[in-house]
Order: sequence, then C-alpha cells, then structure tokens
Amino acid sequence: DKGNHRHFMVKEIHEQPEVVGRTLGHYLDLVASAAKAVDDIDFSRIDRLSITACGTAYYAGFVAKYWFERIARLPVDIDIASEFRYREQPLSKDGLSIVISQSGETADTLASLRYAKGQGQRIAAIVNVRESTIAREADVMLPILAGPEIGVASTKAFTAQLAVLAAVAIAAGRARGTIDAAEEALLVRSFSEVPRLMHEALRLEGQIEALARDLAKVKHCLYLGRGTSYPIALEGALKLKEISYIHAEGYAAGELKHGPIALIDEEMPVVVIAPYDRVFEKTVSNMQEVAARGGRIILITDRKGSEAAAIDAVETLILPEMPAAVTPLVYAIPVQLLAYHTAVFMGTDVDQPRNLAKSVTVE
Ligand code: M6R
Repeated sequence: DKGNHRHFMVKEIHEQPEVVGRTLGHYLDLVASAAKAVDDIDFSRIDRLSITACGTAYYAGFVAKYWFERIARLPVDIDIASEFRYREQPLSKDGLSIVISQSGETADTLASLRYAKGQGQRIAAIVNVRESTIAREADVMLPILAGPEIGVASTKAFTAQLAVLAAVAIAAGRARGTIDAAEEALLVRSFSEVPRLMHEALRLEGQIEALARDLAKVKHCLYLGRGTSYPIALEGALKLKEISYIHAEGYAAGELKHGPIALIDEEMPVVVIAPYDRVFEKTVSNMQEVAARGGRIILITDRKGSEAAAIDAVETLILPEMPAAVTPLVYAIPVQLLAYHTAVFMGTDVDQPRNLAKSVTVE
C-alpha cells in the first residue's frame, strides 16, 4: 500500500526517520548511551574485516569501512561480491566477513559468503529478509528491520544497513578499547539524533523538486564527495541512473583532476556532497575547479559549509549541522529525493525501472 504516496520509492524514502530510529533502538542502548554488544562476535580477537556486497548494499559497506577504521581501528577490505568470489584472496582465520544484502538472496553475495566460510572465516550477515538464504548460512545474522522494501531502487534498506553498521562499529570500538566510555556515549548520542535530522532533510523536498526539473533535461551528471561522502556520491549516481536513466558517475572529489574534469562544461551538472567536516576545504577546492570551467553545481552542505564555500552560481541544499559520523545517513536523503523527482519528471517507471530486478539471484 502506497498510502498517500505516488510511488513506493518515495513512501520508503519518507519512512526512513522511523525505520532508522527503530533499527538504532535495537542496536544501541539509548538510555545508557552505549552500543549493545554483538552476540557471538568478539571484536577484540578480530584482526581484519572483509565487507562484501553488491550495488547499494556495497556502498553501505563502503561507508562502514571509514567508521570501522576510525572508530575501531580495524582494517577493512571492501569488495564487490562478483569480484570477491573469484579473486581467491587469502583470508585470515582471525578475520571476520560481513556480507550485506537487503534481499539475502543475491547470488554473488551468497557465493562470497560461501567462499569466506570455506576459508575458515566467521560470517556476519546484515540482511533485511530474515528467512533468506544468506541469513540462514551466516554464523551471525544482524537484521536491519527496515520492513518490506518494494521499490527496486533501494532507499530505506540502505540507511537501515548504515544504522546497523554504525552500531556495530561502535561496539567494535568499545570491545577493542579504541574508544572510551565518553567517546562511545558521544557517538551514540549523535546517532540518536539521526531520525530528527532525517525529518529536517525531508523538508528540502520542495527545493529538490525544483532542481530536479532542470536535472531531468541533462544527459550526464557527476557526483563528488570525499571521506564518507564519497560512497554517498557513488550511491547518488547509482540512484539517478537506475530510475531516471541519466548517465551519472560518482567520484572521489580528489580524483576530479585525474580525469573526469575533462568532462566539465556548462552542460554538466555536478552534485557536490560536502558537509562542513574536516575534509570540507579540500572538497571545496575541487568544486572551485568545476566552477572555473562553467560547470553547474548543486552543493549539498550545511549553513557553515554554504558560507565557507563562497562560490557563485551554485545551487545549495542546506542541511542542519551535525556530527561528522552521522552525515552519511542524513545526506543520503537529498540524494535519493533528487533521483526520485528527476525520474518523475522524466516519466519513467520509478518503482520498476527497466531491465532491473529487485533481487538478483543469477550472477
Ligand atoms: O538484495 P541486495 O541488497 O543483495 O541487492 C544488492 C543490489 O542488487 C541492490 O542494492 C541494487 O543495486 C539496487 N537496485 C540499488 O538501488
């Protein structure tokens, strides 16, 4: 049931404050400002993490790489499942494999799970469908509790996956002694603000719709981000191409001058995801390179970022200021809405885009 919404996708986008609140409440003790321990995983004995997934689930894992490395000082290899399964890489017995899948049936992700298991690794699966094959074959199953996701383009499953991964990274940091109780409390309190911040992000919808009207006229679009905003740029580009069929690429902002800058002209919109964090200045200098070549910029940032950016000819979406750790969950929303409204203007079949299946059970 779509309720008052025109498509399942936009309904699911709007469900995110509630869904993520529920998921965080399941994995974090908000009263004690602590992460709940993850049953059956002793992070103090793990020396390396391999995160494997496809598509949007892979981008959730990519964000988590930054969290695990920073919060738990745990090295993370992040892989696309179709590559992981055939690469025959050596895996440490003291390593943990995390596979992420909304459906729990993705063929390549399942094959990766079986490969890692064969190498003697323990497997934690982050899934939405609890009765799925991946859930069954994993040693530890961590449900994302997003409820059924109908839109082929994944939205609420993505942010719910991020919520689980963030909570697990905090629990890992505590188990490994890389964060103290005060730092843990600060992180948990930051994440507990996410549902409220997501509500604020949803209020940008009218402004995003106006931007989408123009975006629907372009052939190509570039997304840039740095740090955890880099996987959000990748996710933004994936969303746009999936449902609007506009060619979009996500790039690490620092890679711009290593090639993609050649594409910039007055026709090329560039979506820059840049909260005012410790890499903001670097991203802005990349944005200036775009502006100097006449590129059209859509900047997604906060008040401080928009003041510090000081570039004309920028369309700016302003989110509330928030701790750096939580930005991926909140910045996902404008990026999803931009893709959604662009697709609506294009008149595509948003919930059932051409050539795509909700669950990819063949490789
Ligand atoms: O069910 P899974 O999470 O394993 O699916 C992985 C991808 O197929 C999926 O995320 C796909 O990229 C979506 N269409 C993204 O919107």
